[in-house]
Amino acid sequence: MPRHSRSRRSRSVTTLATASFVALILLGAGVAGRQDDGNRGRQAFDDAGCATCHGPSAKGGTAPKLVGTGRTYPDFLRVVREGIGEMEAQSESDVPDEQLTIIYEWLGQSTSTRIASEGVTHTP
Ligand code: HEC
Repeated sequence: MPRHSRSRRSRSVTTLATASFVALILLGAGVAGRQDDGNRGRQAFDDAGCATCHGPSAKGGTAPKLVGTGRTYPDFLRVVREGIGEMEAQSESDVPDEQLTIIYEWLGQSTSTRIASEGVTHTP
């Protein structure tokens, strides 16, 4: 008899532990999912080397800030491909269009919904 009750208790403890474990996973996935959107852009920005001059959050470093410049995607793309002022042109092999799209979307996230209304295109 005592044996039976002990095993029942340990089963409910296991159930509780499993439930907390599942809850933690769900919570973790939720947080990771939310962070992912921003991190993807930030990562692309960092990988492309833009952060070195423009700052980790593109809010400005040795080079001007890139958030809230109001540039359209074709304009942004042209600036990066042709270079501007002291900034050297970055070719498709330096930073692929796809990566620039991710970066542009990330830059726009904090400032406006302009991208959604204009649509992001690869060619001007
Ligand atoms: C070596 C430093 C350096 C790096 C790396 C760099 N930039 Fe720049 N960038 C500059 C400087 C300096 C300017 C300002 C040029 C001027 O207006 O005279 C600038 C300007 C710009 C502008 C125009 C800003 C505006 O609206 O006036 C954009 C857009 C831009 N950079 C995007 C990028 C992106 C995207 C990357 C990464 C692929 C990048 N830059 C990497 C130095 C850099």
